[in-house]
Amino acid sequence: MRTLLEVMTEAPAELTEGRLKRLGEGVGKVVYASNHWVVKRERTTSEIFSMIVAWKMIRRMERHLPGDWGRNMRQHPSRQLRMLRVAARAMVAVVPRGVWYSSHVGDMWRLYAHRDTRGEHLAVKHLAGTSVVPETITFPPTRIRISGWPGYLTVSEATERVEGTLYDRVAVLAAKGLFEQVEIWLERLLELRRAAWRRGVFSVDAHLRNFGVVHSRVVLLDAGGLTDRWEEVEQHLAKLAAAAQPHVEMGLGEILRDAPSVARRFDEKWKESVNREAVSYYWPDRYR
Ligand SMILES: Nc1ncnc2c1ncn2[C@@H]1O[C@H](COP(=O)(O)OP(=O)(O)O)[C@@H](O)[C@H]1O
Ligand SMILES: [Mg+2]
Repeated sequence: MRTLLEVMTEAPAELTEGRLKRLGEGVGKVVYASNHWVVKRERTTSEIFSMIVAWKMIRRMERHLPGDWGRNMRQHPSRQLRMLRVAARAMVAVVPRGVWYSSHVGDMWRLYAHRDTRGEHLAVKHLAGTSVVPETITFPPTRIRISGWPGYLTVSEATERVEGTLYDRVAVLAAKGLFEQVEIWLERLLELRRAAWRRGVFSVDAHLRNFGVVHSRVVLLDAGGLTDRWEEVEQHLAKLAAAAQPHVEMGLGEILRDAPSVARRFDEKWKESVNREAVSYYWPDRYR
């Protein structure tokens, strides 16, 4: 059994010795890494607005692009996203804040922020110290140098660095045609999700980039989207049941594009394993 949020008297030396490289990013966080640890920078509200605006622009453009262009864009989102983000940042800067807050972008921001705060709270309450999440350590506030803007960060928490995201692992295996391995990893993802359900938490944001790989284990990287409310789980599962292709929802659309039979098998398996009855079987009665 691991200890709950290990408290250290100072930050590990590898965090303070060099300048940490940017390792990954999501809508709300940018992640920097040393050899064994990662630290997270929370984006500001206007940065998150810009991210959402950039994604909306991509979506809108894809719809008007001929097939291959759209596909190309989804396959290399980082390059396009960088360009669009410059445009998005300019837009966010010139339009008054109040207009954003009351727009669809504002709604998405509120949803993200709400899910992120609640998820963190639930992860500490139900998952800290278990094998569902990477190990976390805390230490007195420490100034850490990072590559790129703003050059440094003050943090008091670090998370065990995983080998990579489940998305990247599955993408590499699929590119090599190793679909049996892909299926093994997706089975491990289901095992992890069941472990969370048994503890009365469910992720409504189960994109493969929110999960990491440690040896032969899958862990939850992003607590944002965790809920402990059974009605919300039911609503989410009802929506999922209506979705024709769960693998697309989870970010596997591009990866499994050339393997329709794997995609179909995955969708069947997923509908069989992630539905109201299955989740209810694991869900603790005291949380209903
Ligand atoms: N412990 C970790 N080890 C390695 N990479 C990580 C770790 N935590 C996060 N990341 C990377 O950072 C990205 C963003 O982190 P995440 O917590 O999902 O932020 P957001 O809330 O913005 O989505 C992840 O998709 C992943 O690529
Ligand atoms: Mg995320």
